Amino acid sequence: MTMKVRKAVFPAAGLGTRFLPATKAQPKEMLPLVDKPIIQYGVEEAMASGCDQILIITGRGKQAIEDHFDVSYELEKMLEDRGKTDLLAIVRNISDMMHVAYVRQKEALGLGHAVLMARELVGNEPFAVLLADDVIDAQVPCLKQMVDVFDKTQCSVLATQIVEGKMISSYGVLDVKPADGSFDGRLYEIKNMVEKPKPEDAPSNLAIIGRYILTPAIFDCLAETPAGAGGELQLTDGMRLLLQKEKMYAYVYEGRRHDTGDKLGFLKATVEFALKRDDLGGPFRDYLKGLKL
Ligand code: G1P
Repeated sequence: MTMKVRKAVFPAAGLGTRFLPATKAQPKEMLPLVDKPIIQYGVEEAMASGCDQILIITGRGKQAIEDHFDVSYELEKMLEDRGKTDLLAIVRNISDMMHVAYVRQKEALGLGHAVLMARELVGNEPFAVLLADDVIDAQVPCLKQMVDVFDKTQCSVLATQIVEGKMISSYGVLDVKPADGSFDGRLYEIKNMVEKPKPEDAPSNLAIIGRYILTPAIFDCLAETPAGAGGELQLTDGMRLLLQKEKMYAYVYEGRRHDTGDKLGFLKATVEFALKRDDLGGPFRDYLKGLKL
């Protein structure tokens, strides 16, 4: 029987210190790119990739995320009374989108720990992990591209892209060998991986990007993994154990990734997404052209 990816896990308990003071009293996942919170881009991607159950790992101060995906009775009533049907549709669409469950991660003990929190609700099936900070603009959603790989291989798949220079040290880094040449040469078999190595120790320039499809065997691996880089339970370390038990693939996705957890990345994403909008693109382009840079 072939396994299907139906559940998508969003670790969202992080403190968002890179975006202080904006994130002092609101979750970084709720910062808007144009007019949509960052996490909604990820949730829409998961749904467009065939996932129908969303699991968000939250923590203290993250209630705005739950409210966002919930019904807002007062707001809907007000919009209805005022005949604002277009806005009403937008607001209803979010809460109607899908089934969302929440698990609290009481302490921020690392990405691996956050994923381990999902164990009970995920159960014994493959699942996706999406890091909301990584917003990926792609014709075919990045996760959908990976689901296609999973459907064929039935193995864990990590999204990867080339990162040149010293910046590679900000990522999990892969040691790979080419797979059988399917998927236009975009598929690699993973031999090893290491979290945030020094540039001279990086096994390649292939960075892990925040999209994963994992088999449920990852949970036993994470439960056995000791704290790693930064004293945190690292997902990369857990996946290295998984690699000893199962084949895993890396997939060079097609698309453009924005690191919206970084201030400059956030600004670039805002500009690019605004320029693509039917309602804003024209006037915004004119405005940018008029800036004496
Ligand atoms: C996390 C992972 C890292 C991965 C990165 C992708 O790091 O630990 O392996 O390369 O996401 O964005 P973070 O950005 O949370 O430090």
